[in-house]
Amino acid sequence: MVQRNEPELRPLAYADLPRAVHLLTKANEDDPSRHYIDDTPDACAKASEYANWIGLFIRSAREVTKHEAWTIGGGDSVVYYSPPSDTLSRRRKRLYAILDWLVNASGKSLTRIFRTSQQRARRTELGTKMIAAISGGIGNRVDQLFSIDLLATAVDKQGRGYASRLVNQVTAMADAQFRGTWLITNQYTVGFYERLGFVTVKEFALGDDPTWTKGPVILCVMLREPQSLDSNFLDRGLRD
Ligand SMILES: CC(C)(COP(=O)(O)OP(=O)(O)OC[C@H]1O[C@@H](n2cnc3c(N)ncnc32)[C@H](O)[C@@H]1OP(=O)(O)O)[C@@H](O)C(=O)NCCC(=O)NCCS
Repeated sequence: MVQRNEPELRPLAYADLPRAVHLLTKANEDDPSRHYIDDTPDACAKASEYANWIGLFIRSAREVTKHEAWTIGGGDSVVYYSPPSDTLSRRRKRLYAILDWLVNASGKSLTRIFRTSQQRARRTELGTKMIAAISGGIGNRVDQLFSIDLLATAVDKQGRGYASRLVNQVTAMADAQFRGTWLITNQYTVGFYERLGFVTVKEFALGDDPTWTKGPVILCVMLREPQSLDSNFLDRGLRD
Protein backbone atom coordinates (compact mmCIF):
# COMPACT_ATOMS: atom_id res chain seq x y z
CA MET A 1 0.00 0.00 0.00
CA VAL A 2 1.23 3.55 -0.74
CA GLN A 3 2.26 5.25 2.50
CA ARG A 4 0.64 8.55 3.42
CA ASN A 5 3.79 10.68 3.15
CA GLU A 6 5.01 9.19 -0.09
CA PRO A 7 4.80 11.47 -3.12
CA GLU A 8 2.03 10.44 -5.47
CA LEU A 9 2.46 8.62 -8.75
CA ARG A 10 0.83 10.66 -11.52
CA PRO A 11 1.16 11.49 -15.23
CA LEU A 12 4.10 13.77 -16.02
CA ALA A 13 2.95 17.34 -16.82
CA TYR A 14 4.52 20.04 -19.00
CA ALA A 15 5.33 21.96 -15.80
CA ASP A 16 7.46 19.00 -14.64
CA LEU A 17 9.65 19.05 -17.77
CA PRO A 18 12.58 21.12 -16.42
CA ARG A 19 12.93 18.84 -13.36
CA ALA A 20 12.41 15.67 -15.38
CA VAL A 21 15.03 16.66 -17.94
CA HIS A 22 17.47 17.64 -15.20
CA LEU A 23 16.90 14.25 -13.54
CA LEU A 24 17.36 12.33 -16.80
CA THR A 25 20.50 14.29 -17.64
CA LYS A 26 22.01 13.53 -14.22
CA ALA A 27 20.92 9.87 -14.31
CA ASN A 28 22.47 9.56 -17.77
CA GLU A 29 25.86 10.79 -16.60
CA ASP A 30 27.08 7.28 -15.75
CA ASP A 31 25.28 5.52 -18.58
CA PRO A 32 27.85 3.36 -20.44
CA SER A 33 26.22 3.77 -23.87
CA ARG A 34 26.07 7.56 -23.44
CA HIS A 35 29.79 7.53 -22.67
CA TYR A 36 30.42 5.44 -25.77
CA ILE A 37 28.49 7.88 -27.97
CA ASP A 38 29.78 11.10 -26.41
CA ASP A 39 33.38 10.38 -25.42
CA THR A 40 35.08 10.39 -28.81
CA PRO A 41 38.56 11.90 -29.29
CA ASP A 42 37.08 14.57 -31.60
CA ALA A 43 34.22 15.47 -29.18
CA CYS A 44 33.41 18.85 -27.69
CA ALA A 45 31.96 18.09 -24.23
CA LYS A 46 29.83 21.26 -24.12
CA ALA A 47 28.30 20.56 -27.54
CA SER A 48 27.40 17.00 -26.47
CA GLU A 49 25.85 18.37 -23.29
CA TYR A 50 23.67 20.83 -25.25
CA ALA A 51 22.63 18.14 -27.73
CA ASN A 52 21.69 15.73 -24.94
CA TRP A 53 19.75 18.34 -22.96
CA ILE A 54 17.80 19.76 -25.91
CA GLY A 55 17.15 16.26 -27.29
CA LEU A 56 15.83 15.04 -23.93
CA PHE A 57 13.64 18.11 -23.53
CA ILE A 58 12.03 17.66 -26.95
CA ARG A 59 11.58 13.94 -26.39
CA SER A 60 10.09 14.50 -22.92
CA ALA A 61 7.62 17.06 -24.30
CA ARG A 62 6.50 14.44 -26.84
CA GLU A 63 5.92 11.87 -24.08
CA VAL A 64 3.82 14.35 -22.08
CA THR A 65 1.77 15.15 -25.20
CA LYS A 66 1.22 11.44 -25.78
CA HIS A 67 0.30 10.92 -22.07
CA GLU A 68 2.90 8.16 -21.91
CA ALA A 69 5.05 9.44 -19.07
CA TRP A 70 4.54 8.94 -15.34
CA THR A 71 6.31 10.51 -12.43
CA ILE A 72 6.65 10.28 -8.70
CA GLY A 73 7.23 13.57 -6.91
CA GLY A 74 6.87 15.68 -10.09
CA GLY A 75 10.32 14.75 -11.40
CA ASP A 76 11.91 12.71 -8.58
CA SER A 77 11.46 9.59 -10.66
CA VAL A 78 10.12 9.21 -14.20
CA VAL A 79 9.21 6.49 -16.66
CA TYR A 80 8.42 6.87 -20.36
CA TYR A 81 6.64 3.99 -22.02
CA SER A 82 4.88 3.05 -25.27
CA PRO A 83 1.73 0.97 -25.62
CA PRO A 84 1.58 -1.71 -28.34
CA SER A 85 1.19 0.00 -31.70
CA ASP A 86 -1.47 -2.51 -32.73
CA THR A 87 -3.79 -1.06 -30.05
CA LEU A 88 -3.63 2.55 -31.29
CA SER A 89 -6.57 4.10 -33.08
CA ARG A 90 -6.02 5.53 -36.58
CA ARG A 91 -6.32 9.07 -35.17
CA ARG A 92 -3.71 8.38 -32.50
CA LYS A 93 -1.37 6.77 -35.02
CA ARG A 94 -1.56 9.94 -37.14
CA LEU A 95 -0.82 12.13 -34.12
CA TYR A 96 2.13 9.90 -33.17
CA ALA A 97 3.48 9.98 -36.72
CA ILE A 98 3.52 13.80 -36.62
CA LEU A 99 5.11 13.94 -33.17
CA ASP A 100 7.72 11.32 -34.12
CA TRP A 101 8.51 13.19 -37.32
CA LEU A 102 9.07 16.41 -35.36
CA VAL A 103 11.27 14.68 -32.77
CA ASN A 104 13.29 12.84 -35.44
CA ALA A 105 13.73 15.98 -37.54
CA SER A 106 14.94 17.98 -34.53
CA GLY A 107 17.19 15.05 -33.54
CA LYS A 108 18.77 15.07 -37.00
CA SER A 109 19.32 18.84 -36.82
CA LEU A 110 20.89 18.52 -33.35
CA THR A 111 23.17 15.77 -34.66
CA ARG A 112 24.23 17.90 -37.64
CA ILE A 113 24.92 20.95 -35.46
CA PHE A 114 26.42 19.45 -32.31
CA ARG A 115 27.80 15.99 -33.14
CA THR A 116 31.19 15.15 -34.59
CA SER A 117 31.65 12.62 -37.38
CA GLN A 118 33.00 10.03 -34.93
CA GLN A 119 30.01 10.49 -32.63
CA ARG A 120 27.70 10.10 -35.62
CA ALA A 121 29.42 6.85 -36.59
CA ARG A 122 29.02 5.48 -33.06
CA ARG A 123 25.33 6.45 -33.05
CA THR A 124 24.89 4.60 -36.32
CA GLU A 125 26.54 1.54 -34.75
CA LEU A 126 24.13 1.78 -31.79
CA GLY A 127 21.09 2.16 -34.06
CA THR A 128 22.05 -0.73 -36.34
CA LYS A 129 22.88 -3.15 -33.52
CA MET A 130 19.80 -2.16 -31.53
CA ILE A 131 17.47 -2.91 -34.45
CA ALA A 132 19.17 -6.28 -35.01
CA ALA A 133 18.98 -7.17 -31.29
CA ILE A 134 15.29 -6.23 -31.01
CA SER A 135 14.54 -8.27 -34.08
CA GLY A 136 16.62 -11.23 -32.79
CA GLY A 137 15.23 -11.11 -29.24
CA ILE A 138 11.60 -10.20 -29.83
CA GLY A 139 10.98 -10.52 -33.55
CA ASN A 140 7.67 -9.44 -34.98
CA ARG A 141 5.99 -9.40 -31.53
CA VAL A 142 7.34 -5.91 -31.00
CA ASP A 143 4.13 -4.23 -32.25
CA GLN A 144 2.09 -6.26 -29.73
CA LEU A 145 4.12 -5.35 -26.64
CA PHE A 146 4.42 -2.44 -24.23
CA SER A 147 7.90 -0.96 -23.99
CA ILE A 148 9.69 0.95 -21.26
CA ASP A 149 11.66 3.62 -23.08
CA LEU A 150 13.29 5.58 -20.25
CA LEU A 151 13.45 5.19 -16.48
CA ALA A 152 15.37 7.15 -13.89
CA THR A 153 15.25 8.23 -10.26
CA ALA A 154 17.10 11.27 -8.87
CA VAL A 155 20.23 10.15 -7.04
CA ASP A 156 19.03 11.50 -3.66
CA LYS A 157 15.66 9.69 -4.03
CA GLN A 158 16.97 6.27 -5.03
CA GLY A 159 16.32 3.14 -2.99
CA ARG A 160 12.79 4.20 -1.96
CA GLY A 161 11.00 1.93 -4.41
CA TYR A 162 10.02 4.75 -6.81
CA ALA A 163 11.38 3.17 -10.01
CA SER A 164 9.83 -0.17 -9.07
CA ARG A 165 6.44 1.48 -8.61
CA LEU A 166 6.72 3.17 -12.01
CA VAL A 167 7.73 -0.05 -13.75
CA ASN A 168 4.91 -1.87 -11.98
CA GLN A 169 2.50 0.79 -13.22
CA VAL A 170 3.46 0.01 -16.82
CA THR A 171 3.54 -3.78 -16.41
CA ALA A 172 0.13 -3.68 -14.66
CA MET A 173 -1.29 -1.91 -17.74
CA ALA A 174 0.36 -4.57 -19.89
CA ASP A 175 -0.97 -7.39 -17.73
CA ALA A 176 -4.48 -5.92 -17.93
CA GLN A 177 -4.29 -6.40 -21.71
CA PHE A 178 -2.39 -9.67 -21.40
CA ARG A 179 0.59 -8.09 -23.15
CA GLY A 180 4.30 -8.43 -22.53
CA THR A 181 6.70 -5.55 -21.88
CA TRP A 182 10.18 -5.12 -23.29
CA LEU A 183 13.07 -2.70 -22.84
CA ILE A 184 16.75 -2.20 -23.52
CA THR A 185 19.10 -1.56 -20.63
CA ASN A 186 22.76 -1.78 -19.73
CA GLN A 187 24.27 -4.77 -17.96
CA TYR A 188 24.36 -2.96 -14.59
CA THR A 189 20.57 -2.55 -14.32
CA VAL A 190 19.66 -6.05 -15.47
CA GLY A 191 19.41 -7.16 -11.81
CA PHE A 192 16.91 -4.39 -11.04
CA TYR A 193 14.60 -5.46 -13.87
CA GLU A 194 15.01 -9.17 -13.06
CA ARG A 195 13.47 -8.45 -9.65
CA LEU A 196 10.41 -7.16 -11.51
CA GLY A 197 9.99 -10.24 -13.71
CA PHE A 198 12.07 -9.33 -16.79
CA VAL A 199 14.47 -11.77 -18.44
CA THR A 200 17.27 -11.05 -20.89
CA VAL A 201 16.38 -12.30 -24.37
CA LYS A 202 19.30 -10.80 -26.31
CA GLU A 203 22.62 -9.14 -25.58
CA PHE A 204 24.72 -6.96 -27.82
CA ALA A 205 27.96 -5.04 -27.48
CA LEU A 206 29.08 -1.60 -28.64
CA GLY A 207 32.73 -0.88 -29.26
CA ASP A 208 33.54 -1.20 -32.96
CA ASP A 209 35.34 2.17 -32.95
CA PRO A 210 39.06 1.32 -32.45
CA THR A 211 39.62 4.62 -30.59
CA TRP A 212 37.32 3.33 -27.79
CA THR A 213 39.73 1.73 -25.31
CA LYS A 214 37.43 0.89 -22.40
CA GLY A 215 36.08 -2.50 -23.49
CA PRO A 216 32.72 -3.38 -24.96
CA VAL A 217 29.55 -1.72 -23.69
CA ILE A 218 27.04 -4.50 -23.09
CA LEU A 219 23.35 -3.79 -23.64
CA CYS A 220 20.51 -6.22 -23.04
CA VAL A 221 17.06 -6.60 -24.55
CA MET A 222 14.76 -7.73 -21.72
CA LEU A 223 11.24 -9.08 -21.89
CA ARG A 224 8.56 -9.66 -19.28
CA GLU A 225 5.70 -11.89 -20.27
CA PRO A 226 2.23 -10.95 -19.00
CA GLN A 227 1.26 -12.23 -15.60
CA SER A 228 -2.08 -12.91 -13.99
CA LEU A 229 -3.90 -9.84 -12.72
CA ASP A 230 -4.43 -11.10 -9.19
CA SER A 231 -0.73 -10.62 -8.44
CA ASN A 232 -0.37 -7.30 -10.29
CA PHE A 233 -2.42 -4.19 -9.97
CA LEU A 234 -1.93 -0.52 -10.74
CA ASP A 235 0.42 1.46 -8.53
CA ARG A 236 1.83 -1.56 -6.75
CA GLY A 237 5.31 -1.09 -5.23
CA LEU A 238 7.89 -3.78 -4.48
CA ARG A 239 7.56 -3.16 -0.75
CA ASP A 240 3.75 -3.13 -0.53
C1 LIG B 1 17.97 1.90 -11.79
C2 LIG B 1 17.18 3.01 -11.10
C3 LIG B 1 16.10 3.51 -12.04
C4 LIG B 1 16.56 2.44 -9.82
O1 LIG B 1 15.78 3.48 -9.21
P1 LIG B 1 15.26 3.40 -7.71
O2 LIG B 1 14.11 4.32 -7.57
O3 LIG B 1 16.40 3.59 -6.77
O4 LIG B 1 14.79 1.88 -7.64
P2 LIG B 1 14.00 1.18 -6.46
O5 LIG B 1 14.13 1.98 -5.21
O6 LIG B 1 12.64 0.87 -6.94
O7 LIG B 1 14.85 -0.15 -6.33
C5 LIG B 1 14.23 -1.30 -5.93
C6 LIG B 1 15.27 -2.30 -5.56
O8 LIG B 1 16.12 -2.59 -6.68
C7 LIG B 1 17.47 -2.48 -6.25
N1 LIG B 1 18.29 -1.98 -7.34
C8 LIG B 1 18.42 -0.71 -7.75
N2 LIG B 1 19.30 -0.66 -8.78
C9 LIG B 1 19.71 -1.93 -8.99
C10 LIG B 1 20.60 -2.53 -9.92
N3 LIG B 1 21.27 -1.80 -10.81
N4 LIG B 1 20.77 -3.88 -9.87
C11 LIG B 1 20.11 -4.64 -8.96
N5 LIG B 1 19.25 -4.11 -8.05
C12 LIG B 1 19.06 -2.78 -8.08
C13 LIG B 1 17.45 -1.48 -5.09
O9 LIG B 1 18.58 -1.67 -4.26
C14 LIG B 1 16.16 -1.83 -4.42
O10 LIG B 1 16.37 -2.94 -3.57
P3 LIG B 1 15.70 -3.00 -2.08
O11 LIG B 1 14.22 -2.88 -2.32
O12 LIG B 1 16.12 -4.34 -1.61
O13 LIG B 1 16.27 -1.85 -1.35
C15 LIG B 1 18.12 4.18 -10.66
O14 LIG B 1 19.24 3.63 -10.01
C16 LIG B 1 18.58 5.08 -11.79
O15 LIG B 1 17.93 6.06 -12.11
N6 LIG B 1 19.74 4.76 -12.41
C17 LIG B 1 20.27 5.56 -13.51
C18 LIG B 1 19.44 5.43 -14.79
C19 LIG B 1 19.25 3.98 -15.21
O16 LIG B 1 20.16 3.17 -15.12
N7 LIG B 1 18.03 3.68 -15.67
C20 LIG B 1 17.65 2.33 -16.08
C21 LIG B 1 18.19 2.00 -17.41
S1 LIG B 1 16.87 1.96 -18.59
